[in-house]
Amino acid sequence: MNDVGNQTAQTRRPVDALQAPETAGRRVEAGLNLKPSGRVPSAASLDHKSGDRTVGQYAVDDAVFSCRDVNVFYGAKHALRNVNIDVGRKQVLAMIGPSGCGKSTFLRCLNRMNDTVPGARVTGSIKLDGNDIQGPGTDLVRLRARVGMVFQKPNPFPKSIYDNVAYGPRIHGTTRSRADLDEVVCSSLQRAGLWDEVKDRLNRPGTGLSGGQQQRLCIARAIAIQPEVILMDEPCSALDPIATARVEDLIEDLRESFAIVIVTHSMQQAARVSQRTAYFHMGELIEVGETDRVFTNPRHRLTEDYITGRFG
Ligand SMILES: Nc1ncnc2c1ncn2[C@@H]1O[C@H](COP(=O)(O)OP(=O)(O)O)[C@@H](O)[C@H]1O
Ligand SMILES: [Mg+2]
Repeated sequence: MNDVGNQTAQTRRPVDALQAPETAGRRVEAGLNLKPSGRVPSAASLDHKSGDRTVGQYAVDDAVFSCRDVNVFYGAKHALRNVNIDVGRKQVLAMIGPSGCGKSTFLRCLNRMNDTVPGARVTGSIKLDGNDIQGPGTDLVRLRARVGMVFQKPNPFPKSIYDNVAYGPRIHGTTRSRADLDEVVCSSLQRAGLWDEVKDRLNRPGTGLSGGQQQRLCIARAIAIQPEVILMDEPCSALDPIATARVEDLIEDLRESFAIVIVTHSMQQAARVSQRTAYFHMGELIEVGETDRVFTNPRHRLTEDYITGRFG
């Protein structure tokens, strides 16, 4: 079943004739009315064919990821439609939007995690440093080392704290000696802000830590192999406010070295940690731009409704 045309006030409104020139006359899929809220999108935001309903600047100068015309299907369900977006180097991109709008689906495109979902199909172009990761020649182990992931629920391996962090360097052979490995484990835990809390118990199980510590351990594990990008899918939603604040501080520090794409349900968190924000709605990327601009001056009515709490 196509659930895109469900019963929200937004979708019951008639399709507006004020579509961008490129879309005028085109069937507006699933009855979504994506007319910007009284503000006409700039021509620059409409210069591409299929994602031409996205408002704002989807391209950046120094992109680590460039995604064009990305579509995802789960069987017959069209979960993500014609997404065009870049991820900037050493920046945090926040992805927001109502539950089920496709945020996790999009995130999983960036390290080919949708490959692990039965029936999932991804089309379009997803370039990491200029090379399409969609091709059959992509080494998935290598890709997932370059594009690390932190999940909603902290998921340390049932191993010691040390072995959790050493896991990636061991698999990828990035350290030459035990001393090298010790150094990487120590520096990764330091960068994750966890070293002082665990340095005396590195051989104890990672699962014995508190939730917030476990999440920082997972971040230490992700950065131990020097990824280029870290994907975070609601990394704080299982954490208390103090642990959340620590992870947010950590994200700010990590941005010096990595690009971070974070899915969050908290608009306050998006505003605090990100430089760019992308708003998804029912499988479409509605608006993307600098975080300050998106939150203070949303150009699309759907974005405005969401951030002012009228929707979602
Ligand atoms: N494995 C799956 N099989 C079928 N449909 C899925 C699967 N994962 C997600 N979906 C559907 O795709 C849409 C987007 O889901 P998701 O990316 O998880 O949204 P979000 O992370 O924004 O909450 C939803 O309608 C969801 O039901
Ligand atoms: Mg999700």
